[in-house]
Amino acid sequence: MRVNNRNYETIWMDGLEVLLIDQTKLPFSFEIFKSNNYIETSIAIKTMIVRGAGAIGAAAGYAMAQASIEFENSHEYKEKILEAKKHIEGTRPTAQNLFYATEKVYQAALISTKKAVATAKHLAQQNSDDCKKIGEYGNTLIKEGYCIETHCNAGWLAFVDWGSALSPIFYAHKQGKGISVLVDETRPRSQGARLTAWELENEHIEHKIIPDNAGAWLMSQKKVDMMIVGADRIAANGDTANKIGTLEKAIAAKEYGIPFYIAAPTSTIDFDCSSGKEIIIEERNQDEVHLQTGPDENNVLRTIRVTSPHSNALNPAFDITPAKFITGIITEKGIISPNKLDSLL
Ligand code: MRU
Repeated sequence: MRVNNRNYETIWMDGLEVLLIDQTKLPFSFEIFKSNNYIETSIAIKTMIVRGAGAIGAAAGYAMAQASIEFENSHEYKEKILEAKKHIEGTRPTAQNLFYATEKVYQAALISTKKAVATAKHLAQQNSDDCKKIGEYGNTLIKEGYCIETHCNAGWLAFVDWGSALSPIFYAHKQGKGISVLVDETRPRSQGARLTAWELENEHIEHKIIPDNAGAWLMSQKKVDMMIVGADRIAANGDTANKIGTLEKAIAAKEYGIPFYIAAPTSTIDFDCSSGKEIIIEERNQDEVHLQTGPDENNVLRTIRVTSPHSNALNPAFDITPAKFITGIITEKGIISPNKLDSLL
């Protein structure tokens, strides 16, 4: 993807160093975060310097590879890399791609460090290839002049190089379909307002940021033709965990007859998880609800409290949309009905 007229990958590895775009600074400043070891990469995942299911997966794979390099000459190599795996997996519980990547790179690391690094790089590349295919399939659903609503950020920052939910949108735009996008702001961290809007702006795609509570009204007024969102984990029965607020959009879409699609590679499907009831929902710090960050008149980033000073907040990061509200799941293998996922096995 192009930023300031230069091509960037979402995340990459150079020797021991893992480099990634610092998403906490966007859209106000574009900075590259450099991590020298698996602990620093884990911190980047936990603090959401890198976020979004696929990017978290790629970062976790690279963190495992870093651990393998760090402990290559240790007598306790196996114990150390297992410890690192547990540490990395403790950062964020909901994204399936994180666990998918740590397991694959861990197995490779048991063979050799060289294999661990190659596997981590391959996983990031696989994410990118899968998302490109998601774009091709998803694009077939998009008609000329469509207005598409999306929630959170499932663009190229969140899913290596193409994005999941935004990939069909990028494709449709490149084909000149004259589409526009309604971007849910996605409180509390505003991934929609800050990141999706920034990505769409960079691609010159017509879009408007809407308040989180505007979706149902706009759907009732026939202002939305379809909705595409990403996924953090998909259970075997098609129930899908995604950013908090997705569920109410899916219910509203069903009520107003608007197609509601999930876009995610098959690596996001957790076949060991039979239904959404088994998915662990991450609860994040209440400060994310209370505090907002933005530039002051001198372009210095400031954080201010925007809620009642002594109130507490509750901050579940994800919700589960039952399969019955989902029209289809756009994967790299095609568009699949949420209750036919076992056809992939
Ligand atoms: O908490 P985040 O920002 O890491 O949330 C994950 C997500 O980006 C979303 O839920 C997204 O819609 C799916 S992941 C591409």
